[in-house]
Amino acid sequence: MTFLFHSDARRGAIFQEAFAHDLPDLPFSMDPGAVDPESVRYLITWTVPQDLQRYRNLEVLFSIGAGVDQFHIADVPPHVKVVRMVEEGIVRMMQEYVTLAVLSLHRDLPAYLIQQRTELWKPLAAVQAPERRVGVLGLGMLGQAVLERLKPFGFQLAGWSRTQRQIEGVTCQAGDAGLKKMLSATDILICLLPLTDETRGFLDADLFARLPEGAGLVHTGRGPQLNHEDLLAALDSGRLSGAVIDVTDPEPLPPGHAFWSHPRILLTPHVASVTQPQTAARAVIDNIKRLRSGLDPVGLVDRRRGY
Ligand code: NAP
Ligand code: GLV
Repeated sequence: MTFLFHSDARRGAIFQEAFAHDLPDLPFSMDPGAVDPESVRYLITWTVPQDLQRYRNLEVLFSIGAGVDQFHIADVPPHVKVVRMVEEGIVRMMQEYVTLAVLSLHRDLPAYLIQQRTELWKPLAAVQAPERRVGVLGLGMLGQAVLERLKPFGFQLAGWSRTQRQIEGVTCQAGDAGLKKMLSATDILICLLPLTDETRGFLDADLFARLPEGAGLVHTGRGPQLNHEDLLAALDSGRLSGAVIDVTDPEPLPPGHAFWSHPRILLTPHVASVTQPQTAARAVIDNIKRLRSGLDPVGLVDRRRGY
């Protein structure tokens, strides 16, 4: 029975050390060529290797990241459990990034950057935090964590998910009607939805039209959820006043793409949150211990929902 680590060697070395300490009875390998494929019970990776069928006795496929859309779950044998990454490093980094993005939009950073480039010294009217409405699409591990981190600023907070949630201090919505209600009362919208058939292309002209004029967007979900042309049109017409974009389709963006130079887009190269190997190794070890005691792992993916 082997644990196969299929990712970068730097993080692999940290996993290896933690496994040797906490699960000394479980052989650990970073070299697919050096293991008997039939011995592999656990595999951690970002993308599914093309020769996945070699691992005939695979029981659990762990994602090295929080998202699992890159796996194309339909191609993973049905008896294999798929587990996304739930670990405190990812959560902390996403809280930092979204806080940075929300405060940037709240305090008009895109407009001030334009003014700086044109040497214009002109204070803009500042909306106060209690009047600013911040809405989050997706109330899972990350959506809830960023809302928690935003609470001390005093914004009006809202969130939307598939199933109705109850979160103290947050107006929670669900379903189509709930989405419309939230969008019409959201000045800064954050996307933290997983990529599924239902959320592909979700951030489009129809959705932007439901936001109040001049709203801002923070996109930290997945690139294919955003319609690039619709975002550009919304920014150019003033429907949206600014966007902080961490994920695009494709990644990286091609040279000359309009996002690189748009004055109202703050662009980062999919770095909002990155798995931290020390805490991730801990989370995976805990999950293997749970599996060994007959419990479901934390982050078990529901194949029907796709997340
Ligand atoms: P999660 O815990 O699985 O939560 C997903 C949330 O989205 C849940 O609240 C779910 O609703 C909601 N949702 C899913 N489909 C929906 C739909 N069709 N309509 C309404 N709500 C829907 O996921 P997470 O760990 O928070 O991560 C979210 C995503 O963030 C990941 O999948 C990944 O794409 C992205 N991410 C990006 C970065 C980055 O660096 N940019 C880093 C990590 C993760 P229910 O609560 O009702 O199930
Ligand atoms: C990064 O995007 C992740 O899914 O962890």
